[in-house]
Amino acid sequence: MVFQRKHILGLEDLTAEEISLILDTAESMKEVSLRDVKKVPALKGVTVVNLFFEPSTRTRSSFEIAEKRLSADVLNFTPTQSSVVKGETLLDTARNLEAMGATVIVIRHSMSGAPWLLARELDSSIINAGDGSHEHPSQALLDLFTVREVKREIQGLKVVIVGDILHSRVARSNIWGFIKLGAEVRLVGPPTMMPQDVEKMDVKVYYNLEETLKGADVVIMLRIQMERQGSGLFPSLREYSRFYGLTRERLKLAKEDVMLMHPGPINRGVELSSEVADDVHSVILDQVSNGISVRMAMLYLVASGGGNA
Ligand code: CP
Repeated sequence: MVFQRKHILGLEDLTAEEISLILDTAESMKEVSLRDVKKVPALKGVTVVNLFFEPSTRTRSSFEIAEKRLSADVLNFTPTQSSVVKGETLLDTARNLEAMGATVIVIRHSMSGAPWLLARELDSSIINAGDGSHEHPSQALLDLFTVREVKREIQGLKVVIVGDILHSRVARSNIWGFIKLGAEVRLVGPPTMMPQDVEKMDVKVYYNLEETLKGADVVIMLRIQMERQGSGLFPSLREYSRFYGLTRERLKLAKEDVMLMHPGPINRGVELSSEVADDVHSVILDQVSNGISVRMAMLYLVASGGGNA
């Protein structure tokens, strides 16, 4: 199968075959990352811009490392040091970067839909690095990759996603990804943090964490997104933690070989206890390492084979 897409905007848009192709390509990229010289010439002469309008540690750094491992020319654009502060629009900013030779733009923006706007208006390939509370495809792909690496198959797994589903682009992309690859997806969190139409997505919705964890193969904990929610969705962090925080005792309800995941950044003591974050079941740092291989695959596929989809 040949990857026909010029952009990677969200997992809702991708087929199961396209997702599997990205994961297979990431496996080859991981071999590059294990070599002494972690570099291939795949994107030599290609200029990639990282256009991050929101803070990031993992996504931004690993896209940059991925681009450098593929020998791309990399520009890290910092909006606060740019003419954005003088009122230049997102579209004008992106058009100017394209005029300087950028052909791949990796964008993170607080506005849901921003990557789609650039994909419609520019000639460059666009990769969504997180748009508002909508999608975070590279995170979901690295989560799928990490689970597939351990469990071999996604089909039939019981995947639990815990917490602030309403504001989580990670949850949304993971729901699409795990469902498309045949997993059973269970969501659990306070009713005020559950999207109203979520049951249309072929997921099971719960409000009791203990009940949801029974027999789980994978548990994905989400961060409470203080920056995206108004006040009053739960009484206090302590209260949230009491009902939805993951402890070692609660994790014992899942399967013995459960994988514990978190996209980061972690609020230790809120969504999970510190001992659980560093527990033997935790693959949180494996997720981070795998992010490089998965992002290498995404960059390579859109830059080298992308059609017009
Ligand atoms: N998982 C994630 O998106 O982390 P960053 O915000 O640090 O990129």
